[in-house]
Amino acid sequence: MKKIGVLTSGGDAPGMNAAIRAVVRAGIYNQLEVMGISRGYAGLINGEIEKMELSSVGDIIHKGGTILKTARCDQFKTEAGRKQAINVLNVYGIEGLIVIGGDGSFQGAEKLSQDGINTIGIPGTIDNDLAYTDYTVGFDTAVNTVLDAITKIRDTSTSHEKATIIEVMGRNCGDIALYAGLAGGAESILVPEESFDIDDVCKKIVQGKSRGKLHNIIMLAEGTGNAFELQKEIFTRIGVEARVTVLGFIQRGGNPTAFDRLLASRMGAKAVEYLIGGKSGVAIGMKDNKIIHMPIQEALSEEKEFDGEMYKLTGVLSL
Ligand code: F6P
Repeated sequence: MKKIGVLTSGGDAPGMNAAIRAVVRAGIYNQLEVMGISRGYAGLINGEIEKMELSSVGDIIHKGGTILKTARCDQFKTEAGRKQAINVLNVYGIEGLIVIGGDGSFQGAEKLSQDGINTIGIPGTIDNDLAYTDYTVGFDTAVNTVLDAITKIRDTSTSHEKATIIEVMGRNCGDIALYAGLAGGAESILVPEESFDIDDVCKKIVQGKSRGKLHNIIMLAEGTGNAFELQKEIFTRIGVEARVTVLGFIQRGGNPTAFDRLLASRMGAKAVEYLIGGKSGVAIGMKDNKIIHMPIQEALSEEKEFDGEMYKLTGVLSL
């Protein structure tokens, strides 16, 4: 293998730049030519491709976002779109492709692999919704961003003696809400993986108030429901006005944490090693702090296990 390509796809995640840097530097270290493909699969179809040098990835390890830009691409989901992408790869002589993204991006990589292009996937998403890996690149930074927000919101909630609903991202996965909520001392954590009783949420507010608690933090994962609906429901039941903060895109930005930079660097270098070794259709992950790999198809078919023990702990610690 002489020439490989790298792209980022789907929602951006802090640490994607560190992963690109690792791919480019490990590729050049191994005498490969590395091509950067802009705007994900859309850029691949349009031939937005440039050779990357050691210096192309200088001064980016600490930066959020992705220097390659990213996109969600419907055209790539069609056979015609993928055919065009393969033509472009052939024209440029790119023999292997590293895709940094979430499950949708992995599905694209798997299809390319079936069509004879050697592909490797690096999990880059704040959602941590891929079952085969303990962590995805970007999740730890997002959790810390949310935790910082909880800490600030707690100050003002306490001063005003208010209950607060904080809605966080994660699509259908409650990990951001769970990890940040537990670390931030939330009273209730509502996630799509666990059913909840709104009366329990209300009871916590009332009981907390009666024992002198000055705030009540309710973490709501976006896949669970709407923060304003929940606010209405709480008001109807107990007449308490819970203030709503929807954190939104702040969660996708910012400098990656040490954890995410290390994860991205280790995975990026491994992806290059596997391409050189002739692997294809493979997803890189991390289990028990070891970098692992498995067929993308298998990785995507695994069902994510929610950490019920951690979830229960919230109930114990927020009495
Ligand atoms: O997958 C990352 C993510 O930020 C999810 O948490 C969120 O549901 C979604 O992307 C938002 O997507 P978009 O940027 O397309 O609105």
